[in-house]
Amino acid sequence: MKVLVTGAGGMLGRAVLPRLRADGFDVRAMSRRPRHDPAAEWVVADVETGVGLAEAVDGVDAVLHLASLPNSRRTHRVDVLGTRDLAVAAGAAGVAHLVYVSIVGVDRVPYAYYRHKLAAERVVAAGPVPWTVLRATQFPPFLDALLRAASRLGPVIGDPAVLAQPVDQHEVAGRLSERLTAGPLGGIEEYGGPQVLRFDEAVRAWRAARGSRRPLLPVRIPGRLGSTLRAGGLTTTATPTGRRTWADHLADTYGGTGRR
Ligand SMILES: NC(=O)c1ccc[n+]([C@@H]2O[C@H](COP(=O)([O-])OP(=O)(O)OC[C@H]3O[C@@H](n4cnc5c(N)ncnc54)[C@H](OP(=O)(O)O)[C@@H]3O)[C@@H](O)[C@H]2O)c1
Repeated sequence: MKVLVTGAGGMLGRAVLPRLRADGFDVRAMSRRPRHDPAAEWVVADVETGVGLAEAVDGVDAVLHLASLPNSRRTHRVDVLGTRDLAVAAGAAGVAHLVYVSIVGVDRVPYAYYRHKLAAERVVAAGPVPWTVLRATQFPPFLDALLRAASRLGPVIGDPAVLAQPVDQHEVAGRLSERLTAGPLGGIEEYGGPQVLRFDEAVRAWRAARGSRRPLLPVRIPGRLGSTLRAGGLTTTATPTGRRTWADHLADTYGGTGRR
């Protein structure tokens, strides 16, 4: 099966490409800029402008749509209209399956980026190509980057009671490979990590792994956004889940050495 992967150079894309190749898929990887990689066929296309889309989808059996531009003035153009344009191009090319990666909680958490993701899910479901949506929880390197950003000023600033359920992006890649093999679900599947963690627990483990003494400065997120995040809006009870934990990520990344 030949699969076009959009956003192939991103965090999830970098996990997906080797996994799909190992599982026997013929992979075409898409980016907005030329990439040179003897291990893969890369094509240049942009869902914002539409440039290169028709060529990118030509001759593929399935599209795995990972491209996204979070928290930008162009998010609606890229994530919603870009997904629509991709779906239309894929329909015209006779693509048999469009898999869209979304986020657990887009239907609950009142956050602008999530509204765009939910709209994009609906575009996929209403579009011309048989489809699957896989909603994943946060990837550990994303949470790690978030904690680094939250501690720029010294202490780690955050709402201690927010719940998260990090899922290893390589395990998400494995699930996506299974979904491609299974064919269109015509529905939404959720996929999360093995543990639900409070923000303060995640920070404690992160500090210990990094040998850091930065204190947690608790700041309660106000309003419905805060209450939804504290009530587990980003978590799922769906099974199966991934198996790799936040602690596994920390051990791989920091190995318990040095102060950072
Ligand atoms: N990060 C998480 O924790 C997480 C959790 C659950 C779900 N997700 C979802 O999983 C997907 C992948 O996330 P990620 O973390 O891998 O994102 P990422 O690292 O930000 O990668 C997204 C990719 O989208 C591509 N892109 C942006 N604008 C584009 C455009 N106009 N046309 C074509 N490509 C464009 C970029 O590729 P080029 O620069 O190469 O063009 C970029 O590498 C997203 O849909 C995200 O919502 C992420």
